[in-house]
Amino acid sequence: MDPITLYPIGAYQPMPFPAPVWLMETLLVVGFFIHAIPMNVALMGGITSAILLFQGKNKPESYQQRAGKQIAASLPLFTTAAITNGIVPLLFLQILYGPLTYTSSILMAVPWLSVLFLLVIGYYGLYIFNYGQNKLGEKSPWFLLGSSVLFMVIAFFFSNNMTLMLTPEKFLPMYQASPSGMHLNLSEPTLIPRFVHFVLAAVAVTGLAIGSFGLYFKKKDDGYATWLIKTGAGLFLGITLLQTIVGPWFLFTLPGPVQQQFFDVNGAGFMGLNKMASHLFRTSLGLDVIALIAMAIAYVKGSSKAFITGLVSALLLIGAMSEMRHLVRVFSISNILDPNTHAVQPQTEILIIFLVLFVALILYLGWLAKIVHKAYQNK
Ligand code: HEM
Repeated sequence: MDPITLYPIGAYQPMPFPAPVWLMETLLVVGFFIHAIPMNVALMGGITSAILLFQGKNKPESYQQRAGKQIAASLPLFTTAAITNGIVPLLFLQILYGPLTYTSSILMAVPWLSVLFLLVIGYYGLYIFNYGQNKLGEKSPWFLLGSSVLFMVIAFFFSNNMTLMLTPEKFLPMYQASPSGMHLNLSEPTLIPRFVHFVLAAVAVTGLAIGSFGLYFKKKDDGYATWLIKTGAGLFLGITLLQTIVGPWFLFTLPGPVQQQFFDVNGAGFMGLNKMASHLFRTSLGLDVIALIAMAIAYVKGSSKAFITGLVSALLLIGAMSEMRHLVRVFSISNILDPNTHAVQPQTEILIIFLVLFVALILYLGWLAKIVHKAYQNK
């Protein structure tokens, strides 16, 4: 087959962008961040709570049973937040990178659309556990496990699509091989390390959620709260240490020119070609070290202060990683599709309405969180 020549995609939206590219890129990254936090707990919370429930199987009063049930009770909330917040990056991804993300979605249309069904079944599994655990008895944690497995399949399909959209040179050969929409991106070298990196991160974030439950119970039941903080911090610590192997594995599978933007691949200096990417990379490493030290202290001492320090550093780290993930996309495809070349005609009125509604939504969610908090306190 002749090698395919790719040309930059010109004006790819029928109308000019309604807001500046930097603003939409910021909202894309912020949107991914607010999707990723609850999505991580939804993804691995089921497996974690099932393991805790299996551990405390014959000890109904054990901390494991208590924590397992409480995490499981929170999972429908985390899943709802993951789905709702997923809409935000989806909208900006389509506006900014439409020709790439639509094409990759069409090539893998069958697995991509199956996400909806997998999500509904997985979501249902969480409710079956929460409303049927007394009836189902020892079998009930299997529903939590099943939901996590289905969510992992969803995450795998997302990683396939998010990597396929970055390699437009594969589009035509894939379509010529089969137009049936059954493709995945299994030949992609970054796919497996990227997916493993995400799944492990989801376990670590579940650890953050468990420790946060500990902060919540601190005044009510100190023994249980300390156990939760130690368990959550230990989980975060163990998994994040494992990421010191998986992270570089992912980094070194990225194409050379992308790596070069973040750090000096020849080892002559630390700075890569892109200043912002290099600083972000350094900052992430620094935050990682702070989070690890703080969580090690929280794990040994059960200290709330150390856990909060670790929690804040970890959240900042995830924010920095979300931006780095976006920069990987920008560096991978900027020669084919660069949103900055597209015309912009700001629609100020719409932007103001959007920002007002955005603030109103945050206030509404705060109010809703207060109600849920009250309901749990009265339990
Ligand atoms: C529990 C269900 C879900 C799981 C486990 C999940 C998991 C993931 C994962 C692992 C990624 C990153 C993939 C990668 O970069 O390799 C991702 C990205 C994304 N997810 Fe979800 N997701 C879920 C539901 C949803 C839903 C329902 C939506 C939309 C309404 C959504 C929208 C997005 C978008 C738009 C991105 C890419 C954002 C970007 O590239 O900046 N997700 N998701």
